[in-house]
Amino acid sequence: MPSLGTAPTITGGEQDLTTTRFIFYASRVLYFASLLVLSGLLLWGLRRAPSAAERTSRETWIGWTAQFAALATLVYIVLQMSNLTEGEPFSEWGRILTDTTVGRLYAAQLALAFAALLLRGMGVSARLAWTLLALGTEAWNGHAAAFSPEAYTLALDFVHLVAAAVWSGGLVLLAAVWHRERPEAGRFAILFSKWALLSFLLLALTGALSTLQYLPTLSYLFETSWGTWLLIKVGLSLLVVVTAFLIRMRLRKGELPRSGLLKADLGLLGAIVLSVGVLTYQNPLPANEPISYHEMGTDMHVTLRITPGVPGDNAFTLKIWLPDSVGAPKKVALRLRPLGSGDVGFIDVPLEAYEDSELDDFPDFTKATFQSKGPYLAFRGRWEAQIRVTDSTDTEIVKSTTFRIY
Ligand code: HEM
Repeated sequence: MPSLGTAPTITGGEQDLTTTRFIFYASRVLYFASLLVLSGLLLWGLRRAPSAAERTSRETWIGWTAQFAALATLVYIVLQMSNLTEGEPFSEWGRILTDTTVGRLYAAQLALAFAALLLRGMGVSARLAWTLLALGTEAWNGHAAAFSPEAYTLALDFVHLVAAAVWSGGLVLLAAVWHRERPEAGRFAILFSKWALLSFLLLALTGALSTLQYLPTLSYLFETSWGTWLLIKVGLSLLVVVTAFLIRMRLRKGELPRSGLLKADLGLLGAIVLSVGVLTYQNPLPANEPISYHEMGTDMHVTLRITPGVPGDNAFTLKIWLPDSVGAPKKVALRLRPLGSGDVGFIDVPLEAYEDSELDDFPDFTKATFQSKGPYLAFRGRWEAQIRVTDSTDTEIVKSTTFRIY
């Protein structure tokens, strides 16, 4: 599993939604909402000759969103940092903010968020520079920086963020113009729906390409909460396409979009940003865990442990318990084979007997313990482990188990 670069992620049991976690995720959602809407409004500011209603609505909302973004980004970064430095002295904040990439990017995001408060008085180029910097910093502080080729994954993520900003900012602007001057909203809606279509095509394309770059196989989508949240997000995006289609139908007839459709679109935007706030904090790759197999039987008890349970080097511990009546095993073999990759034979794992200190004896059974170390699980996928034991009566007992490594 590649080290996930900058953004920390969570795995395993940390899924329970405590109040702290709820506040933590809420801060991520509000941060992304503020970043997307503010960047989007600033990008819509590049439009030549907007109507007075559009310009006034845009500038008003830029002012409000900039204030909201400064607060949301501050809370987001404080909670991220406190999560990163859990149990560490406060002095650790200084070190992380100055000596680590994630820290320096957080510092840059905070500086940009406060600089945004000055944007209302600034010209187009300063606004464009701010937007590109803010979205670029976010892309660099996300999962994209942990996958390779980095330039490709970062570029995909950046285009994804720009497209998301154009759609989110445009939708909020449409709603604002709608409230200010209905007829003008109709004119803006025609332009917006063109850009919305283009943004969605770019979102789907860059999103799909990022997914293909992050996951060695798409089946991982069904193995992680990252995959679950991404599928939820894709589902919500498809609903946006349906509402967009209904809005376009009305615009084609020269009618204003129904306010219900607009509200539905805004609701879907909120739900998508919620999924983004959670998705980007999950690990795209399933976590490997140590493999442990134990089976009891009248003829034999067996325990197999494989640690850490990753492709490559692992430690193997095999314990056999045979009835005292047959005593120690004559022959013990541990064999491994990958499943699902054609007719590949078993790999024999060389075993060495060792003195075991664990207190796990069974009455009337004799224990024999073996261990090994090496790259016998060479690649990710589903594997079978087969244990073949020949007892003193030359009876062979075979046990097997299957497991998956990522
Ligand atoms: C079919 C549609 C879409 C697909 C397949 C898709 C896919 C993705 C993927 C794979 C990521 C990377 C997640 C990660 O870094 O953990 C992502 C991130 C993101 N997506 Fe989408 N997405 C889609 C639609 C949208 C829409 C409609 C929005 C609009 C709000 C959006 C906004 C974002 C944002 C803000 C991020 C975070 C990027 C970052 O922080 O680096 N996406 N998306």
